[in-house]
Amino acid sequence: QSYYKKADEIIEEYGRKESSLIPIMQDIQAEYRYLPGELLTYVAKEIGVKEAKAYSVATFYENFSFEPKGKYVIKVCDGTACHVRKSMPVKEALMKELGLSHKKHTTDDMMFTVETVSCLGACGLAPALNVNDVVHPKMSPEKALEMLEELRG
Ligand code: FES
Repeated sequence: QSYYKKADEIIEEYGRKESSLIPIMQDIQAEYRYLPGELLTYVAKEIGVKEAKAYSVATFYENFSFEPKGKYVIKVCDGTACHVRKSMPVKEALMKELGLSHKKHTTDDMMFTVETVSCLGACGLAPALNVNDVVHPKMSPEKALEMLEELRG
């Protein structure tokens, strides 16, 4: 299966050693936009790391995701600076436009994922969000919807 073949290539690149775990996981996530559980198990076995350890490392770093994510990951900041400047209405507007409920973070066509984060390190630009790690400053519901339109192309 090409799934495992791809993992094999990545493993070869970094070598079968414990210190390769994080770079391998990063490459797998870059490839699939998440960390499929069966691949993590496979990698752990191949490089000789205990499966439980591989999972705890992956869980520790919040950039790793066990869930498939959309092509565009929108992180709306709800840290103090952004919250008081009304970041949550921005998130609500995006969720509503994308038909997402509070339990659902990713659209069915895997185009968009909407998440909340606790600070983007851009408090002076509040309310801020980022899309695939690019910061969008001083958002409003209207600006957020315009941004969606642009992303939809
Ligand atoms: Fe939103 Fe810091 S609180 S960027």
